[in-house]
Amino acid sequence: EKGGYEHYMRKEIHEQPQSLRQTIAGRLDVDGGDVDLDVSLSEEQLQSLDEIEFVACGTSYYAGLYAARLFETLADVRASVTIASEYDFGGGRDPWRTLTVAVTQSGETADTLSAIRAAKQAGAQTLAVTNTLGSTVTREVDDSVFIRAGPEIGVAATKTFASQVATLALLAVYVGRRRNALRAGRASTLLENLRALPGAVQQVLDNEPVVEELADTYADSEAFFFIGRELAYPVALEGALKLKEISYDHAEGFAAGELKHGPLALVTEETPVLASLTDGSRAEKTHSNVKEVQARGAPVIAAASADGDGTRPAVDEQLPVPNIGLVEPLAANVYWQLFAYHVAANKGRPIDKPRNLAKSVTVE
Ligand code: F6R
Repeated sequence: EKGGYEHYMRKEIHEQPQSLRQTIAGRLDVDGGDVDLDVSLSEEQLQSLDEIEFVACGTSYYAGLYAARLFETLADVRASVTIASEYDFGGGRDPWRTLTVAVTQSGETADTLSAIRAAKQAGAQTLAVTNTLGSTVTREVDDSVFIRAGPEIGVAATKTFASQVATLALLAVYVGRRRNALRAGRASTLLENLRALPGAVQQVLDNEPVVEELADTYADSEAFFFIGRELAYPVALEGALKLKEISYDHAEGFAAGELKHGPLALVTEETPVLASLTDGSRAEKTHSNVKEVQARGAPVIAAASADGDGTRPAVDEQLPVPNIGLVEPLAANVYWQLFAYHVAANKGRPIDKPRNLAKSVTVE
């Protein structure tokens, strides 16, 4: 059932080209610059929105962070993200002009369900982005969009993160077009990038032997720091979460620009830094952060756009990311999934069932 893989997690990492194809199947109109999504929100409702807010936990929260950036860029709407257990509708907002989107793989996360109930009670319109047909969240919200990633068994979310972000990108195009905020040409480019994503992820997967060797080299480090900006910031957070969950090592994700405001004190020769230098992440600015950590002796592993400019700093290992625009950080993320997996495998951890964690968290 694990299809020859030792762990479901590795199987699910490798399923991503296929699961992403399922996510986008029949939903892209690349030539027309639009998407075909089965959502019932009317054009009028979408045009009157002041704000789209995402509520979610863990990895799904990071998918929400990625999405909020995309919505602000593509749909010209204020977008915010709240950790579901911290949610409160808050003041100074018009619920009738707010769309609250629950991002939840399982559709059963108690914190996310209670956040969406609070939003609904305040009068907001509600939407779920989920992997699970018939899940509790789908019965609570006005409408649902399915990520179609297929069942995920490993406790650590991998393919569902990719499919969540891809689905939310489709939704951003859907909303952007209907708010007359996104031109068809720009939408086409993003849709083309999404169409190229499964192949790009496959290219990353083909580099697994390099990542495995890196993981073996650095497995015994004191801590691991992931950095990125803009769309690569949630990817830094997600890379660190994956690593801590399954390897039990100390890992943190930082907005690259924040290093100098504190975390730099932690950086030494014993703390590898994993940087995402892709499109949609102001890579040229992150270069200076790479130099900052190198000056403290930290080894640097970079997942970088294949066509990155010649001014890029020399690093200990450069992992190429195919050029696919605003979804490049999603391909870079696959390197960090593989890295986390191989560090944990190196240490013989129970990868599919890490200690103290459950696949679906049904208590608040
Ligand atoms: C991390 C992980 C968790 C979940 C979180 C939300 O690998 O799997 O952080 O992302 O518990 O779960 P869902 O998306 O089912 O609401």
